[in-house]
Amino acid sequence: MPPLANIDGKLLPLSEVKVSVLDRGFLFGDAIYEVLRVYRGRPWLEDDHFARLARSLAEVRITGVDLARLRRRMAETIAAGDFREATVYIQVTRGVAPRAHAFPPDTPPTEILWVSEFDDPYAEARQSGAAVALYPDIRWDRCDIKSTNLLGNVLAMQAAKEAGGVEAVLYLPDGTLLEGSHSSFFGVRDGVVRTAPNAPAILPGCTRGFVLGLAAKLGLRVEERALRRDELGRVQELFLTGTTTEVLPVVRVDQQVIGGGKPGPVTRRLQEAYDDAVRNWHGAPASGVT
Ligand code: PDD
Repeated sequence: MPPLANIDGKLLPLSEVKVSVLDRGFLFGDAIYEVLRVYRGRPWLEDDHFARLARSLAEVRITGVDLARLRRRMAETIAAGDFREATVYIQVTRGVAPRAHAFPPDTPPTEILWVSEFDDPYAEARQSGAAVALYPDIRWDRCDIKSTNLLGNVLAMQAAKEAGGVEAVLYLPDGTLLEGSHSSFFGVRDGVVRTAPNAPAILPGCTRGFVLGLAAKLGLRVEERALRRDELGRVQELFLTGTTTEVLPVVRVDQQVIGGGKPGPVTRRLQEAYDDAVRNWHGAPASGVT
């Protein structure tokens, strides 16, 4: 099944969707987005993703989006294509208007979503562990907004890919390790699960939040305090979380081997708990995760 899009309630193949060059998403990156994972036909962490979508819209002051309608359209599109293992991409832009920086008056936002089959690129790395590359964070000061301005993330990811990594981990000039180019970053040091605190410098990952909840349920010690580059020699485990990455062990950072080159026990417990949660949620009623 090729990707299926939904524009203004109309279903059509993604390849047939056309957007104006005057769309502010195209001209200014004046847009926000979400990516959801669909497991066996149902969108995972749907409430969390839509809450973050609403927050991103509010932060950039894009108004006039009917989120309940967008949600219905998402469900209709998943059902229409009978998608089972899939991702949903949703983007809302400030609309189409003559090019000028300030907000255009009376311009409806462009709302687009599409559903694509998901062919898991991380299946092997989730077992054996992944390599990542460090990259300086050259993004802006509002990375908590899920905006489509992703050039800093794109350059970081390309550098990581060229270095043979599956992800770039972004660091500040003082050595603070923040997050991946498209995932959240975690470590385990001296039995404590560590990750950067939610702040304007990182995206509040839906998976991050879910995994922190799992860690608490498992009785793990958790500290929302960023790791630093100079701590990497003293961490026992590292892992990434994200909608498509799920819980992904990291066993190498640039040339530095982590945890003897093998996924560690805490990461494994969280991976299992995550898989269990997805499996159990399928047995649960449609209201989602509790
Ligand atoms: N990226 N940090 C950044 C910068 C991200 O872009 C993402 C998600 C995450 C993880 O967030 P979540 O757990 O809600 O997926 C963290 C999506 C998947 C993307 O851009 O494709």
